[in-house]
Amino acid sequence: MPLKKEDYLVLFCDGKRYLVSLKEGFFHTHKGVIKLSELEGKEYGDCVFSSKGEKFHLLKPTLFDFLMKLRRETQIIYPKDIGFILVKLGISEGMKVLECGCGSGALTTALAFFVGEKGKVFSYEKEEKFIEVARENLKRLNLEGRVIFKHKEVLETFEEEEVDALFLDVKEPWKLIPGAYQSLKGGHPLGVLVPTTNQVSMVLKALEEYPFVDIEVLEILLRPYKTNPERLRPEDTMIAHTGYLIFAKKVLEK
Ligand SMILES: C[S@@+](CC[C@H](N)C(=O)[O-])C[C@H]1O[C@@H](n2cnc3c(N)ncnc32)[C@H](O)[C@@H]1O
Repeated sequence: MPLKKEDYLVLFCDGKRYLVSLKEGFFHTHKGVIKLSELEGKEYGDCVFSSKGEKFHLLKPTLFDFLMKLRRETQIIYPKDIGFILVKLGISEGMKVLECGCGSGALTTALAFFVGEKGKVFSYEKEEKFIEVARENLKRLNLEGRVIFKHKEVLETFEEEEVDALFLDVKEPWKLIPGAYQSLKGGHPLGVLVPTTNQVSMVLKALEEYPFVDIEVLEILLRPYKTNPERLRPEDTMIAHTGYLIFAKKVLEK
């Protein structure tokens, strides 16, 4: 399919990925300049040469590229954690999902992507400026219609009931466990992300007070490898810590 003006693409050169839109005018790097409007009519998989004669491949962006390149005004949840969160919460077409702590909207974007056109994401955020950032990030994927933002500092409860899954990414999630219990459907999953172990303990103590079962605490370590087949080995550095994940399921009685 020929590329159109409204399309995004990844310009790939020397192991580096650059997410661009054809509407952006010019793309500048130390490897030269590319006039993006001239890519209209080309196809994903084609290549183009910059003003310095460097070859760039035109790749189709995946959700990963959008998440890594979204505008960030807060700490975000990274794709390695998002992938696991999505499968643990069983996010799928048509689901009604609630999150608290929308921040820059990384998780919101992934939730909106997977609930599909018939699903809804209810996203609570106390800072209006972050809602605007998240909205802008969602627009790049035409997903803003799937999210209902609630500009509110949640102190106890949420307005929604019978949600299929609920995720908390706030500083003091233990305070919202009773509200999360109230909003979730029976047997359905709760997820929480916190950066420190003392916060994990606080969440576990709060979960003990309510009928939650199947409680898990884990973290996800991603170790990328250098791709030279003759010298296959891990990269020298890695991101050692993002956050701890806690999952539990609501039951009607313990
Ligand atoms: C780390 S950020 C969330 C990042 C987001 N999950 C992402 O992937 O981009 C945490 C957000 O929670 C918001 N927040 C903290 N406590 C809150 C509360 N009680 N109610 C609503 N929002 C809250 C903060 O303003 C902040 O934007």
